[in-house]
Amino acid sequence: MQHVTSLSFLLLAYSNYLSHANKAVPCGERSASPALLKQLAKRQVNYILGDNPLGMSYMVGYGSRFPQRIHHRGSSLPSVAAHPARIGCKAGSRYYVSPNPNPNLLLGAVVGGPNVSDAFPDSRPYFQESEPTTYINAPLVGLLAFFSAHP
Ligand SMILES: *[C@@H]1O[C@H](CO)[C@@H](O)[C@H](O)[C@H]1NC(C)=O
Repeated sequence: MQHVTSLSFLLLAYSNYLSHANKAVPCGERSASPALLKQLAKRQVNYILGDNPLGMSYMVGYGSRFPQRIHHRGSSLPSVAAHPARIGCKAGSRYYVSPNPNPNLLLGAVVGGPNVSDAFPDSRPYFQESEPTTYINAPLVGLLAFFSAHP
């Protein structure tokens, strides 16, 4: 999702610029209006949140179906309440390879997303699909803020 969220944020920012400048992007015989760019960005956000072939939200905790085995140490290790004893730096492997869902939800985190086949392994070792990152989530915050204020 890193390209999706970044490019969608840029589309939205550019759409706002075009809107204020009263311009559109010429594209051969057609032209892309600010409204079209905004609509494209919104479709990407909707895809991330569940409007996709798997009917799956790629944001942890959002919707009825979301990633359960994200590649994230704080989510996949037991909490200190459940496991007060120290877990050594290299002692997390059994949690990493476990087929069980993560015990802790990183609410709101968006993961890498589906692979080229539009499938989602939902497996910790598939970090490209299951890792939540700042470079995926930061641009999405801008998109969500805009669409929340302008539904
Ligand atoms: C995509 O993920 C699915 C589900 O895990 C897997 O079966 C498939 O081989 C993956 N496709 C590619 C191209 O990696």
